[in-house]
Amino acid sequence: MNNDLLHSDTPIHRVKWSGLNSDSNEILIKRDDLIHPFISGNKWRKLKYNVEKVKTHGLKGITTFGGAFSNHLLATACACSIFGIKSIAYVRGEELSTNSNFILRLCTEYGMELNFISRADYKDFSDDESFGRKDFLTVPEGGQNEEGIRGCEEILNSSVKKYRVKHVFCSVGTATTFCGIIRSMPESIHVHGIAGLRNASYLQEAVQSNTKGKSNWTLHTEFAGKGFGKYDQSQLKAMKSFTSETGILLDPIYTGKTLIAISEMYKKGQLDKQSTVLMIHTGGLTGILSETWLKMGND
Ligand SMILES: Cc1ncc(COP(=O)(O)O)c(C=O)c1O
Repeated sequence: MNNDLLHSDTPIHRVKWSGLNSDSNEILIKRDDLIHPFISGNKWRKLKYNVEKVKTHGLKGITTFGGAFSNHLLATACACSIFGIKSIAYVRGEELSTNSNFILRLCTEYGMELNFISRADYKDFSDDESFGRKDFLTVPEGGQNEEGIRGCEEILNSSVKKYRVKHVFCSVGTATTFCGIIRSMPESIHVHGIAGLRNASYLQEAVQSNTKGKSNWTLHTEFAGKGFGKYDQSQLKAMKSFTSETGILLDPIYTGKTLIAISEMYKKGQLDKQSTVLMIHTGGLTGILSETWLKMGND
């Protein structure tokens, strides 16, 4: 299930950043942000086996769910157009329209049908496993299903051992990506999930049941700051310094918080200063194009 427009075989880059607080100031980054501008990072990993299912079952396309700024919606719209299938989305917020923001606008550009619904309907529809259009595969919000986890198992493989990696870090929303990484990593490598949402310890149970038999992981809920989609000047400052020193952009909602978690953990002695850390760049760069990011400035 591949296509020349998607570059799934992404490199691992070794970069130096002064904010790391490690002995070498070096970190390895798995560049899944390079897969595609909009189907980047974990998005394609989570969609791959869903798209394959649509194709092998002769279905018409994908029905899915998301909020006004959902990277998952945009990735789904874009992936479906690449693979010649239809996409339908139920978007949270009946006050929205296709021109409310550039993500929704881009979704329609890629041919997605957008249905704007109330928050109550959104909850009912997205909680109902039988919801969906005839001949369409329903993919839950954020691409959170077994196919999604399976795709994320392909982000890394045991070849990371050659880099002597001890710790792998990934950003957590639904924890689909985190589960895939845990499944694919040997017990000798510890996988850290950094939750972007506050009070995310409820995810613990789902991670446990989806990664049976594995104990090489920690879900960190202490780095969410003021909560999902919220960030402060110190975070933006750290991200700016990382980007200007490495040439790699991060998003403020997920990967920016994960980078800061790594830096803080070195600082607090929770990571051995000599140990090699690999961070997965899960993409999501559309997050920097939000009004909030613009208004916060970067001085
Ligand atoms: C850039 C980025 N990183 C990480 C995540 C979290 O992924 P997951 O929902 O699989 O935990 C998301 C959301 O999908 C995201 O957009």
